Amino acid sequence: MTPDAWRARWERGETGWHLPEVHPALKAYKGAWRRVLVPLCGASLDLDWLAERGVDVVGVELSDLACRRVFERSGQAPETREVEGASASYTERRAGRLRLLTGDMLAVDASLIGPVDAVWDRGCTVALAPRLRDAYLSTLSRVARGAEVLLVTIDYDQRMMDGPPFAISDAFVRQRFDAVELLDEAAESGSLRDRLAAKAGLPQGADPPALLERVYRARVGAPPADCTTSSA
Ligand SMILES: C[S@@+](CC[C@H](N)C(=O)[O-])C[C@H]1O[C@@H](n2cnc3c(N)ncnc32)[C@H](O)[C@@H]1O
Repeated sequence: MTPDAWRARWERGETGWHLPEVHPALKAYKGAWRRVLVPLCGASLDLDWLAERGVDVVGVELSDLACRRVFERSGQAPETREVEGASASYTERRAGRLRLLTGDMLAVDASLIGPVDAVWDRGCTVALAPRLRDAYLSTLSRVARGAEVLLVTIDYDQRMMDGPPFAISDAFVRQRFDAVELLDEAAESGSLRDRLAAKAGLPQGADPPALLERVYRARVGAPPADCTTSSA
């Protein structure tokens, strides 16, 4: 999907990925994070939850509507300013421990993000088309190399339908991240499975594709060779 297509989905309220609660894998995780990057953060409730627990949070999201919504729901009036990165500009909103940058994650640089010791990746690697994955991993490497990553992936037979979310294999994670440890693997039987079945155009009553959700702890590794940095 192009940046405009993501923004349009926010405008139309087509945000089926948005959870009405904090992600269970994040809640269950006992990492002692001090400063966490939440790429492609949407308006996730995970942002507020982390900040309320004393973690400094920096989120990056294309949709200005999503970023405004995060502060509106907590009644906070963030300090807002335009900031320039090396190759793109962003709207920065900051209140308390939460700082959100509206703009392209694939163009951010370390000076915009600042030091981070962890990355929370839910709906990020799986959201990006395979052609953008190297650029995403390269960006993570640029801004958070060596940081701990808590990563949630979805795996299914990609031939049955197109993403997002795109299928991410266990082999891909082990190739592209360091110190990979599988924390949990579970068959997904809920609304995501139904949503993808509908998207795949399966007739009612047909068996939707099997989905596996995996949760990993890993480290951000070296950048992949030969990658581009455009999300268009
Ligand atoms: C599947 S949603 C996941 C949102 C969030 N992580 C969550 O768990 O609710 C992916 C989000 O990434 C945003 N996005 C897509 N490409 C992006 C990019 N290049 N830079 C920043 N945000 C992006 C979309 O607008 C969307 O909100």
